[in-house]
Amino acid sequence: MPSGTLMDLHCHVLPGMDDGSPDVATSLEMLRRQAGQGIGAVCCTSHYYASRETVASFSARREAALKRLLPALTPGLLRLLPASETAFFAGISECPDLERLCVKGTRTLLLEMPFAVWNEFQMEEVAALVLDRECRVILAHPERFCAFQGNRERIRRLEQLPVALQVNAGALLAWKTRGLALELLREARFPLLASDCHNLTRRAPNLQEGRRTAAQRLGPDFLDRLDRNAADLLGLAVPGTNP
Ligand SMILES: [Fe+2]
Repeated sequence: MPSGTLMDLHCHVLPGMDDGSPDVATSLEMLRRQAGQGIGAVCCTSHYYASRETVASFSARREAALKRLLPALTPGLLRLLPASETAFFAGISECPDLERLCVKGTRTLLLEMPFAVWNEFQMEEVAALVLDRECRVILAHPERFCAFQGNRERIRRLEQLPVALQVNAGALLAWKTRGLALELLREARFPLLASDCHNLTRRAPNLQEGRRTAAQRLGPDFLDRLDRNAADLLGLAVPGTNP
């Protein structure tokens, strides 16, 4: 059985896939630390850029990375769910291979929007993902896009579709971004918290610390809400309940 029941739904833990873990040893240590924080399921959300490779190529690389990692992983330590952090691209709502970018076994897609002012075409594409493709879209780290004029309001509009808002734990831990991160979580219709961990140094697994701050500032019941939302999107049992 996995050692923990929490879920981390945004992690760059697969070796050699992107700017996350460079090798199996780093991946194993990242996962060991996550298990130590009570995490029992990890979404392997390596970056996917449609401008750089096909979904088939990405899926094959992801499979190979998992095959290198899994034999070295302590059996039952935690569950790895193949997924992606897909960067927005024109035509995403009509991508025939979209399901392979979702968290395996679900229609849940972690979407990274452009680092720019979002235009109406992009907003329409996200709406089509939700309404036409029936994807459950998680907007990755919305706090990073709010500095672009009008995006805060556009995030509010996307929430009505609905899309889920996944704030990074690191944004709660840095004083410069804490206020915005708390505001986004507090106001979100469907809030989520994840580590977006990349390595063992500047972007190490930190979900536990982020949860502590969330509990202090938003109340312990808020953690239950975060956990229910994550479990719902991943199709897993809610922590603390019998499956
Ligand atoms: Fe990420």
